[in-house]
Amino acid sequence: GTIGTTPVYIGAAQFAAWKHTQLILDVVEGRGGMFSLDNGTGRRFLVRSRAYGEREIAMLHKADRLRAMQASIDSDTDAFWLAEAHRLDWSVFPTKADESSFGKADFGIRWFADGELNVSVNCLDRHLETRGDQPAIVFEGDEPGEGRTLTYRELHGEVCRFANVLKANGIGKGDRVILYMPMVPEAAIAMLACARIGAVHSVVFGGFSPDSLADRIADCGATLVVTADEGTRGGKRIPLKANVDSALERASGVDTVIVMQRTGGQVSMREGRDIWWEDACADVSGQCPPEAMNAEDPLFILYTSGSTGKPKGVLHTTGGYLLWSTLTYDLLFGPEEGRDVADDLFWCTADVGWITGHTYVVYGPLSNGARTVMFDGVPNYPDPGRLWETSQRLGVTIFYTAPTAIRALMRHGDRWVLQHDLSSIRLLGTVGEPINHEAWEWYHDIVGRGECPIVDTWWQTETGGALIAPVPGATETKPGSATLPLPGVHPELVDGEGHLLTGATEGNLVLTRSWPGQMRTIFGDHDRFFQTYFSTFPGTYFTGDGARRDEDGYYWITGRVDDVINVSGHRMGTAEVENALDEHVLVAEAAVVGMPHDIKGQGIHAFVTLKAGAEGSDALRQELRDLVRSEIGPFATPDVIQFAPDLPKTRSGKIMRRVLRKIAEGQPDQIGDTSTLADPAIVESLIEGARV
Ligand code: PRX
Repeated sequence: GTIGTTPVYIGAAQFAAWKHTQLILDVVEGRGGMFSLDNGTGRRFLVRSRAYGEREIAMLHKADRLRAMQASIDSDTDAFWLAEAHRLDWSVFPTKADESSFGKADFGIRWFADGELNVSVNCLDRHLETRGDQPAIVFEGDEPGEGRTLTYRELHGEVCRFANVLKANGIGKGDRVILYMPMVPEAAIAMLACARIGAVHSVVFGGFSPDSLADRIADCGATLVVTADEGTRGGKRIPLKANVDSALERASGVDTVIVMQRTGGQVSMREGRDIWWEDACADVSGQCPPEAMNAEDPLFILYTSGSTGKPKGVLHTTGGYLLWSTLTYDLLFGPEEGRDVADDLFWCTADVGWITGHTYVVYGPLSNGARTVMFDGVPNYPDPGRLWETSQRLGVTIFYTAPTAIRALMRHGDRWVLQHDLSSIRLLGTVGEPINHEAWEWYHDIVGRGECPIVDTWWQTETGGALIAPVPGATETKPGSATLPLPGVHPELVDGEGHLLTGATEGNLVLTRSWPGQMRTIFGDHDRFFQTYFSTFPGTYFTGDGARRDEDGYYWITGRVDDVINVSGHRMGTAEVENALDEHVLVAEAAVVGMPHDIKGQGIHAFVTLKAGAEGSDALRQELRDLVRSEIGPFATPDVIQFAPDLPKTRSGKIMRRVLRKIAEGQPDQIGDTSTLADPAIVESLIEGARV
């Protein structure tokens, strides 16, 4: 948008404020956002700008905002980002935006590096005056209707109290705190409390086993763990505290375990180490001054899987991550012109143990002053109508979930949806995996009454927030496509040698420029960060995904091209599962590949060779399944375990996974050339073995 001929930027916070006040404003030059002279919406504002004098402008539809953003980002990228930075409250406003480089010589990712801010202030304090009594978190437990609502003021008080508890237990700026929690408000409270005092949280999904938890505690050097007595999931109990106890037998360095009471189940408390959340918070002040953080100070570490057996501690920092969460939440899920963010009730069904829960349950919504749902249940408990019954009862207006949940519920038939009045829902979103046509149609026609746009968001733990996604009202959607890059995102497709591909084509998905939400490092291993993401196709960030681009420039993500699989939206490395199987005394070698699965998207097919003399049996299969459950977690349990006399290897001893993938996919006719195998005959016996 322009006033006269020069772009004027008006930050989102001001923009939101206008809506309510409709006052004549003073707009300081360089502090501006999205707006144009007239778009015929009828909502007009008088704006006084030092540079341009007094003008009347109109509120913008998202389509116009997006166009205005794209125009201004192209004309002066740094000015654009500094203007966008006004979405946040800073104690020291940055003077620089992007100082990143993907090149080896001056490698590094840095944004807003001389700015200072606190994430909890942005998610809480700055809303108190205008939204103090407005719901911030709407909690829905495992049992329908079990829940409570926390206003921004209440949440602020709880966060300050818990921040004081952390401090009293020796936690300060830069210290790592592990959260192993159910999906309860206390999880968000603990995250924000860490942010308030500059501690670095690392949330570990409650479905991870004690061993996985121990690895993460050790890798990040955490000194404090926050957990609950037990979690509940679909009526079953998860022994969270007992899992922490066994993890701490293996991992050292933790002096304090804070335990919240969720179920009241029996747990053992170790004297001098374990304390109850409720007791610790009892006589603590509800005020806690926020720590001033540099924009590049760490906010959190979140472990994710890659091609190797060891999960990576993805590190996100304060300024860039929060801006990306705030901006993308607003673009994708924020209100249209004339409405307020709190007119919506936003429900992202992800667990805070995953990046989606960080960005779109906690940070993005709260930074925008939204009302966000935290759900501690599962989609099919007590019946397959749960999500829709809850949506109706709470009055959800935006619903964001994973394709795997949609596929699972679709199988139960339309009636579970149609029994409920879902007319409050205006927008639907998906994340985590490609969505197949059938699931898209069902989501759109049955859940969305054929009226709600579907926002298919492509992104990763590493990217902090959505990168390729339609802006509702602005981007035409196509079923199954994540559509177009958001402003400031520069995707390209390259071939196996890294040559840039143009036009409608298919290839490896890379990003050629940094964006504020990009991860900054792998905790404790900066060199691995460079090697993992920036060395395959030098000068670019390699996503690990393949994609197709159509004639309209739309992106269609085809899935991982590395040894990562996506099972029900849970990302895992095949090597992790192989390592777990290798632990069994009778296993000589294991190779794991993904296989198509109707509901989970991908399932796990394990080829296992046994030591000489050992016999494959159903009992052994069960032992191996149990082993993976205990080493990683139940979600990593193999669907198929095929005992194999040998694995297909090249003469140099490398397993040819392509062969195994085709067998697991049930397409042995597409295996292709096997002449480089040391023993090509092995392929026939594997195909035969897969049939039985
Ligand atoms: O393969 C892509 C897939 O999920 C991977 C990232 O997994 P994770 O880090 O666990 O983050 C998931 C939530 C953001 C990607 O490399 N993926 C994610 N979103 C989509 C997707 N594949 C297709 N379409 C999507 N919308």
